[in-house]
Amino acid sequence: MSGEAAAAPAAASALTAFSADISKLDLSPLWERKARLVPGSDCLPAIWRYADLRPLLAQSAELITKKQAERRVLVMENPALRGTSFITNSLYAGLQIILPGEVAPSHRHTPAALRFVVEGSGAYLAVAGERIAIEPGDFVITPPWAWHDHGNLGQGPVVWLDGLDTPFAQLLGAHFRENHPDDKHPVVDAQNSLLVFRFEDTCAQLRAMAPSAADPVHGHRLRYASPATGSHAFLTMSACMQLLPAGFRGLAYRSTEGQVFNLASGACRVETGGRVHELQPHDTLVVPAWEPYRLEADEDSFLFSFSDRAAQEALGYWREEHL
Ligand SMILES: [Fe+2]
Repeated sequence: MSGEAAAAPAAASALTAFSADISKLDLSPLWERKARLVPGSDCLPAIWRYADLRPLLAQSAELITKKQAERRVLVMENPALRGTSFITNSLYAGLQIILPGEVAPSHRHTPAALRFVVEGSGAYLAVAGERIAIEPGDFVITPPWAWHDHGNLGQGPVVWLDGLDTPFAQLLGAHFRENHPDDKHPVVDAQNSLLVFRFEDTCAQLRAMAPSAADPVHGHRLRYASPATGSHAFLTMSACMQLLPAGFRGLAYRSTEGQVFNLASGACRVETGGRVHELQPHDTLVVPAWEPYRLEADEDSFLFSFSDRAAQEALGYWREEHL
C-alpha cells in the first residue's frame, strides 16, 4: 500500500472538518462548488397560446377595475421560474388589455420597456413627452426612467405585449419607480416619433429584402434600432422582426440570448426542446439561452422577438452556434 493512498481518508475528513469550520464565517470552498459552469440556464422552452389567453384577458378585464387597469397584465412566467414574474432569468413578458376609455397614470422606472401591439385600434402610448397612436404590429420603445402612460380612446379593447429588463434592475439592486405628481406628464402628439416603429413600414422593409436570399437560420430579419445609439433598441434588450417566407425551412441553431417570440401574422413552426410548436398569430414562445431551435413556415410569416442580446454583446458574452 502506498503512503499516498493510505493518507487519503484522513485528508478527506480533514477537508470536511475544514469546510464546516469556514462555513461559520460565511465562506465556502471553491473546490466543492457544484454550480454549473456551462452555457444555458435552467429555464424551459414554453408556449402561451393566444387562443387560451385572449378569453382570460377578457375575464381579467371584468375582474380588475379601471383603477387597477395599469396592472391588468397576464405575466408569462417560465415554468422553471414560477413565482418570479420572469420569462427568462433576464427578461419579463406580459400581455396587457386596455378597455375603451381607460387612461393610466404616468410613472417611470429604471427598467426599460418595450410594447408590441397585438390587437385593437385607438390606443396611445405617451413616452417621454410624445403621445404616440398605436396600431397592431407597432413596436414602441420606453427608455429607462422615461415618463410614460397610456390610454384607449378607441371603441374596443387593445392588447399589447410588454417586455421589460426588470431582472437586470433587480440583479443590480437598482430598481427605482415613481408616480408622476400630476398623474399625466406633459405631452405633444407625435406623428413621427423615433420611439415607434410602424408595422406597415417594418413589413415593407422586410418584403423589399425578400428577393434576396434569406438567411438559412433566421429568414429575413430586421433589428429595431435605438434612436439614441443607432444600435440595439435598448442597452439590455434587442428586438427584431423577421419574415419567414412561404416554404422556409430553417437550419438548427442556438445562441446565448434568451428569446421571446410573438407571431405577428402568418403561421410558422418552431422546433425546440424536442417538440414542434405550431405558432398561430399572437402566440408567445420562449426559447431559453443556448437551447437549439429551428424555424419553418408554410406561408409568409412575420415573427417578432426580443432578447437580452444587447446586454450580452456589451458584456462580451454573446455566442452563437450553427448546428
Ligand atoms: Fe411602466
